[in-house]
Amino acid sequence: MPRPILINRCVCSRVLFQDLKDDAEHHGIRSMQELQKVREFGVNCKLCHPYVRRMLKDGTTEFADVITDDEV
Ligand code: FES
Repeated sequence: MPRPILINRCVCSRVLFQDLKDDAEHHGIRSMQELQKVREFGVNCKLCHPYVRRMLKDGTTEFADVITDDEV
């Protein structure tokens, strides 16, 4: 039986989406570009970008499905 996936961080920078959400709420940030000014993440493979955009949109910090830019 396959194990479910849990996507909850920028793997390259080892930053949890929850921590990014906390930063966004603390600083009143609504865009990924603004968020990258207060914490380093998302600069390598960029696979976390659609998840961070979704997090900024609806607050989700843990994902069980793969999402792409087209779905955000
Ligand atoms: S997972 Fe965020 S840059 Fe690679």
